[in-house]
Amino acid sequence: MPAMSRLSLAAGLAAVVLAPFACVPLARAASVLDFDVWMRAIDKRSVAVQKSIARRDAVAARADAQEIERLYALMQTYFVDAGNASDAVQISRDGKDLASSITGLVDAQDFDGASQAALRIAQACNDCHDAYKPFK
Ligand code: HEC
Repeated sequence: MPAMSRLSLAAGLAAVVLAPFACVPLARAASVLDFDVWMRAIDKRSVAVQKSIARRDAVAARADAQEIERLYALMQTYFVDAGNASDAVQISRDGKDLASSITGLVDAQDFDGASQAALRIAQACNDCHDAYKPFK
């Protein structure tokens, strides 16, 4: 094998071997610190969405609900990655679906329905906390 191609073979191998590490900062799993940041945001938004709905502020309610939906999706992925937390995955998914339903209900001016959905999200916090909080 000529020296040149042996070199490029080595370079190619290095690229293949090192490529996954190059991605680590982007694709790394979320940490407990990330989780706590999301959780405090969830805490604020779940109160905010109930207030927005109560004062029939569709724009704010939609923004709050979309943020809850985004945060619950992150939480769901976190618990999927953690493994062994199927209840937490399910509660996250249910909360995400409820948040997503709020958008449609608000658009349809169904503030009572939206209020029920927001309340169900808030009532489910402890279903997860009782079993999973604090992290062991
Ligand atoms: C699917 C699971 C799950 C759901 C749903 C959930 N939480 Fe949590 N929450 C946790 C876990 C796990 C912790 C503990 C994290 C730790 O130990 O660092 C936590 C911690 C917290 C904390 C403390 C954060 C900190 O800075 O230490 C607050 C506040 C909180 N949750 C509020 C809420 C509220 C409000 C809701 C509902 C609107 C909610 N959580 C829904 C799992 C959940």
